[in-house]
Amino acid sequence: MAATSSYIVRPATETDSPQINDIVNYEVMHSVSNFNYGQRSPEDGLAWFRTTIAGGYPILVATTVVNGQEVVAGYASLGVFRAKDGFRFSAEYSLYIHHEHRKRGLGRILLRDLLVEAKARNFHAIIGSISGGNEGSFRLAKEFGFRVVGTMKENGYKFDQWIDNTFVELLL
Ligand SMILES: CC(C)(COP(=O)(O)OP(=O)(O)OC[C@H]1O[C@@H](n2cnc3c(N)ncnc32)[C@H](O)[C@@H]1OP(=O)(O)O)[C@@H](O)C(=O)NCCC(=O)NCCS
Repeated sequence: MAATSSYIVRPATETDSPQINDIVNYEVMHSVSNFNYGQRSPEDGLAWFRTTIAGGYPILVATTVVNGQEVVAGYASLGVFRAKDGFRFSAEYSLYIHHEHRKRGLGRILLRDLLVEAKARNFHAIIGSISGGNEGSFRLAKEFGFRVVGTMKENGYKFDQWIDNTFVELLL
């Protein structure tokens, strides 16, 4: 797995689940990159973790050490695109970098390693759903060769506004 001068990327373990949950919950409260309105409980976060791993999907974390403690600075994962047999070679990716660790190349490194892992696991189509206005995610996806499939207009609603969602896809 990749290492930068101060971050490492490794497969996540259950003990990372609380910090992954904190990163997700920050986005739930502050952005439209996650369409939930309410925070995910630690129990639901752990259930998500176990279901993802049991389903054969990877979860990677980027970690660093702050004051002697290992801190999860971001994670990338794959999950079910559609729960029908014929979609088993497709997976949807999630990528979240802690807001204090952005713009340091972690999104790029995690997505790169996630795609390597996806290929190793024999996934064929990797799909992303990017909210309107999420310029960073669009740029990152394009950098890795994702093509824009199409935009669903105003299919999301959060913070009292309609939000578009764009599907992107990369064939491995
Ligand atoms: C989108 C996100 C994953 C980017 O992570 P990051 O670690 O900050 O990104 P990186 O530092 O690796 O940047 C890689 C490239 O992405 C693009 N990018 C990242 N953040 C950007 C921003 N705020 N505006 C424009 N482009 C951005 C740039 O092209 C950048 O390359 P450059 O630094 O050479 O210009 C991060 O902002 C995030 O977690 N956002 C909230 C959750 C989210 O939106 N997840 C994606 C759902 S699809």
